[in-house]
Amino acid sequence: METSELTYSDLELASLRKKAWQMLDARRIPHVAGCEEEAVCLARRWGESPSAAAAAAILHDVTKRLSAKEQLALVRQYAIPCDDALLASPKLLHAVTGAAVAEAEFGMPEAICSAIRWHTTGKPEMTLLEKIIYLADYIEPTRDFPGVEKLRKAAYEDLDSALALGLSMSLEEVRHGGAEPYIDTVLANRYYQTIVRDGNNN
Ligand SMILES: [Fe+2]
Ligand SMILES: [Fe+2]
Repeated sequence: METSELTYSDLELASLRKKAWQMLDARRIPHVAGCEEEAVCLARRWGESPSAAAAAAILHDVTKRLSAKEQLALVRQYAIPCDDALLASPKLLHAVTGAAVAEAEFGMPEAICSAIRWHTTGKPEMTLLEKIIYLADYIEPTRDFPGVEKLRKAAYEDLDSALALGLSMSLEEVRHGGAEPYIDTVLANRYYQTIVRDGNNN
């Protein structure tokens, strides 16, 4: 099934929101609500199912409040394959544990779980829903950082250019903080920079 054929009723989304928000730190609710709003707008702009985008956004940070120890317990519980870099970073882990919880506890289909799985790092060859959730998380209305307006504009003009910009900004931020960037983000950045460069040459 194409993701765009997945739909959820208002009632289903309301119930999802109620359950998911109870699992969040209250301070994170405005971000998650903003992400849902942005994901729905991006879905309408780019021809994705707005309710599938809403469901993925509602659940994208569902395990974010958990400690590193709790994240690792979920990794074991759901036998999630993880490399060392992933295991060492609770910030990255919440994306994989969030995807597992979305599937096991909320019965979400693969297309939605995968958008949750990749929302923090990105990856090459993302699906439309994966792109939308990655960008919605980055540019939702409560986000405020240098360059956010440029990224917001790009997200509604050209998705791949927005990804190339967002991924390079994310790498810059990680490097600036003195950390080693995660391999999937490096690969994703390389992939989308090439797409944009080659696209512009045609
Ligand atoms: Fe997140
Ligand atoms: Fe988020």
